[in-house]
Amino acid sequence: MTPPVDSAGLPATEPVNWGISRLGQGLTDSAIRALSKRLAAAPGLVSFAGGMPSPDTFPVEAFNRAYERVMATAGPAALQYGPTDGFLPLREWIAASLPGATVSPAQVLITAGSQQGLDLIGKVLVDRGDPVAVETPTYLGALQSLGQYFPKWVPVDSDEHGLQPQRLQPCLRAAGVPPRGAKLLYTIPNFQNPTGRTLTEDRRRALVQACAQEGLPIVEDDPYGALDYAGRTHTSLLSMAPEQVIYLGSFSKVLSPGVRLGYLVAPAAIIRKLEQAKQASDLHTSTLAQRIVHEIVRDGFLDGHLAHCRQLYAARADAMDAALRKHLQGVVRWQRPEGGMFLWLELPPGTDAQDLIEPAIAAGVAFVPGAPFYAADARANTMRLCFSTASPAQIEQGIASLAKVLTG
Ligand SMILES: Cc1ncc(COP(=O)(O)O)c(C=O)c1O
Repeated sequence: MTPPVDSAGLPATEPVNWGISRLGQGLTDSAIRALSKRLAAAPGLVSFAGGMPSPDTFPVEAFNRAYERVMATAGPAALQYGPTDGFLPLREWIAASLPGATVSPAQVLITAGSQQGLDLIGKVLVDRGDPVAVETPTYLGALQSLGQYFPKWVPVDSDEHGLQPQRLQPCLRAAGVPPRGAKLLYTIPNFQNPTGRTLTEDRRRALVQACAQEGLPIVEDDPYGALDYAGRTHTSLLSMAPEQVIYLGSFSKVLSPGVRLGYLVAPAAIIRKLEQAKQASDLHTSTLAQRIVHEIVRDGFLDGHLAHCRQLYAARADAMDAALRKHLQGVVRWQRPEGGMFLWLELPPGTDAQDLIEPAIAAGVAFVPGAPFYAADARANTMRLCFSTASPAQIEQGIASLAKVLTG
């Protein structure tokens, strides 16, 4: 008797049982990435959805020249495996260029974007059910990444000046977390994603103190700090409390996200564990990418380049602010950001931004609804607008279209 065959003519077997792990079962698609796929199929749209830096800021020529120089001077080494903690000259450059903080290169770990830093922190610090405090709303990718380790989220209230430090302890206690019982606080003090808000200097000091009282490590995520439109530097939490803070930095918003290069700075007490987690995960970040980026930044290239990025984003923030004043004054609430790429809209109470996605796409504009950025108690009448990739003229057109959807 001939054995049964499947439709491809191969011997038929019992279906394989893919026993997805508990971690695997917890994985989800990012709402933004899912929406981006949908938008790619709708060309001609003004998109405020993506959250990507403007390609007009990518220094293609500088990358080209750096690649040629790296190949000419260190070709074989640039193509070889490298140490897990990263290319030493790049780590030295990072340690020396963090404003206000005294950091040794031994405290710097190069990562595949700061997103990997979040994953390593979750792996090393978070057990199932551990209380993790976050500002609200917060970066969706952090909820996704730290969420793999099944923390108990403790949202801490925020307002137009960022996280409210005096709410930290009440929120922890209300969530049943005993004093000194939380695992970490995750925060984005500068030009936050998704709100564009910036933590005031007073609040920075108060937050560091409140966390110290709780024995709470702080994860300071700072991909946008260098994009202050006025070129100001905000005091990092790292510089205030180096023993208490893991700082995440990135080249994504100042050079290129495609190069996938970020870093974390951590106290001696924890850096080796993070390095071991990285080694288990991917051995090390691309040697070639690290050498090329080091070649670009080592001679002060970023000074002039950042001035160009800030100018471009400031003009786009102004265009969006002006368009909102013209078309939606009195209908929605917003705050013009002082840096970065995002603006947060509060819609009239009772409006669900999710319900507006399809009508907006039909009207030629896209945004991301605010709800996925909340760890709990989502506010559905919010949306994130990213103005980085649209020209001022497109921004005016996109906000005019959004106004039609909102006001009928
Ligand atoms: C707040 C925040 N953290 C981390 C990331 C991840 O950035 P990357 O992995 O490209 O460095 C992003 C990207 O948008 C972000 O907005």
